[in-house]
Amino acid sequence: MPDTNYSASLAEVPEGPKRSWPLALFLTAMLAVVAAIVVYHLDSFDVATMPLHELSPPPEPALLRNGRLLQGAELLGVGKFQGPEDIAYDSRSEIIYTGSGDGWIKRVWLNESASDTVVENWVRTGGRPLGIALGRNNEVIVADAYKGLLNISKDGAMELLADEAEELKFKITDGVDVAEDGMIYFTDASHKYSLHEFARDILEGRPYGRLLSFDPASRRTKVLLRDLYFPNGIAVSSDQDSVVFCETSMRRCRKYYIQGKKKGRVEKFIDNLPGMPDNVRYDGEGHYWIALVTENTILWDLAFRYPLVRKAALIMERLVGRVSTGKNGGALAVDLEGKPVAHYQDVELNMVSTGIKIKNHLYCGSFVRPYIIRLDLDQHPAQAKS
Ligand SMILES: *[C@@H]1O[C@H](CO)[C@@H](O)[C@H](O)[C@H]1NC(C)=O
Ligand SMILES: *[C@@H]1O[C@H](CO)[C@@H](O)[C@H](O)[C@H]1NC(C)=O
Repeated sequence: MPDTNYSASLAEVPEGPKRSWPLALFLTAMLAVVAAIVVYHLDSFDVATMPLHELSPPPEPALLRNGRLLQGAELLGVGKFQGPEDIAYDSRSEIIYTGSGDGWIKRVWLNESASDTVVENWVRTGGRPLGIALGRNNEVIVADAYKGLLNISKDGAMELLADEAEELKFKITDGVDVAEDGMIYFTDASHKYSLHEFARDILEGRPYGRLLSFDPASRRTKVLLRDLYFPNGIAVSSDQDSVVFCETSMRRCRKYYIQGKKKGRVEKFIDNLPGMPDNVRYDGEGHYWIALVTENTILWDLAFRYPLVRKAALIMERLVGRVSTGKNGGALAVDLEGKPVAHYQDVELNMVSTGIKIKNHLYCGSFVRPYIIRLDLDQHPAQAKS
């Protein structure tokens, strides 16, 4: 009988100091709880309730899936990047542009074999280049978290286009895309927190972000939408009528009309994504590729629902450093209506910040990894579950 076993094992516990162990343990635990409550109340970090009621239910999962992205993937330029955050592709020169954590915009010559990838330090912004897109005059437009919106001419001259709007400075210039008429659409993820404290923005749960445009003709910066939840990546639609942008902390992408009858309107594109979205790229073939930093988890769900959990997470982060970085990151391809079509992910993968389809390959950038991930989509396609 269990009871007898229990007393038998108790009887084996030797006499002496070890006997007081459970009491010490209990007191320590109590002390930890009391300390936690005190720290919690002393901490002035003020967290907000998020408008989750705005969200529609999660979409149907993509029918096609590759859950082991890394198994078939190649790693390009290992060690030559410090977090290639976003990727732009120039089809004429077949060069990739990416911004690295060391402040360099890098040019990457693609080659059949990953070991032959040539990476060149092209222009140093002195900040942290994030979003990157090709302009209409062979220039490269960069959203630099610390510097603002930059124009880098084809011969490498750098010019600041904007670092504030309506007398409010950008703190995390984040995503950018350029329309066919040359208009630049970009995001400032937060006007309160800088990039190195972006986690606080997300944990606080207040909308400090803006969607903006820069008109190269008038040189004017315009605020298109304000009060956004960490607006991140942005992509102009192929019909040039709208932009799709991600709001990382609301785990959604929305559509903003830049032309036509609906001009100025904002609509749902996809809600309740299966992970935290970062950049979004249009592939010219009917699909937006949304990079998912990590998968969604019960813990994230709780955190977004309950401000208390976010505050606790912040305190934990302060006390013990970085919290878990997650898993099952990757890229989700959705159609023009925002319906998931194919999901590429890997249990070992996190911190994915961009997914872009170039010819028959998927390229994934990351804001921490020292390489670009490349997957041959013909050889390793997402497949229907059999
Ligand atoms: C690939 O790299 C090899 C070795 O550096 C070079 O000989 C070849 O021309 C490159 N191919 C392309 C398409 O750039
Ligand atoms: C960027 O700079 C180049 C060189 O001065 C110029 O030709 C181009 O029009 C500029 N682009 C924008 C968007 O200002």
